[in-house]
Amino acid sequence: MKALIRVPILALVGLMGGNLAVGAEVDTASAEHGKYLVMIAGCNDCHTPAYSINGGQTPEAQWLTGEAFGWHGPWGTTYATNLRLQVRHFTEEQWVVYAKTLKARPPMPWFGLNNMHEADLRSIYRYLVQLGPAGKEAPAYLPPEQKPPAPYAVFP
Ligand code: HEC
Repeated sequence: MKALIRVPILALVGLMGGNLAVGAEVDTASAEHGKYLVMIAGCNDCHTPAYSINGGQTPEAQWLTGEAFGWHGPWGTTYATNLRLQVRHFTEEQWVVYAKTLKARPPMPWFGLNNMHEADLRSIYRYLVQLGPAGKEAPAYLPPEQKPPAPYAVFP
């Protein structure tokens, strides 16, 4: 019964909504694809607090808010950036150029981001915007000679 009623209502919404409704739908789908990408491309593993040690159970509200866990090696100590705060500094166009040309210190797999298709980069941007700002900035980069505060991992 329900299914029978739903079909004419959807048709009506489609007629009234025109382009606007279609546009909004595409954006949501793109952001949803961005969510899928950050899950399978491993962005959460480093950029989301405790994600890789709790089996991906960190609530989405905290996703991509950066980590205070240091990665210490010959390059110094790096911290995975809070991407939800960072994305506010970019328009979508700027983000695409930035992600295509980004060079970062280990263990950030920047070469992966450089090679991502433009449509996928746009999806990640839209997902970050949809999530909105949260959390605080990750600790600042430290030079090699400086011993970082715990917790941190040492390479090699
Ligand atoms: C193995 C851990 C790791 C993974 C996986 C990872 N990142 Fe990173 N990311 C880092 C670290 C650490 C930094 C900081 C590098 C630095 O200070 O130079 C960083 C930096 C960045 C930056 C640059 C931020 C800035 O300050 O300019 C962007 C953008 C970024 N990551 C996006 C992503 C995206 C998108 C993904 C998934 C496709 C991802 N990262 C996967 C660890 C990681």
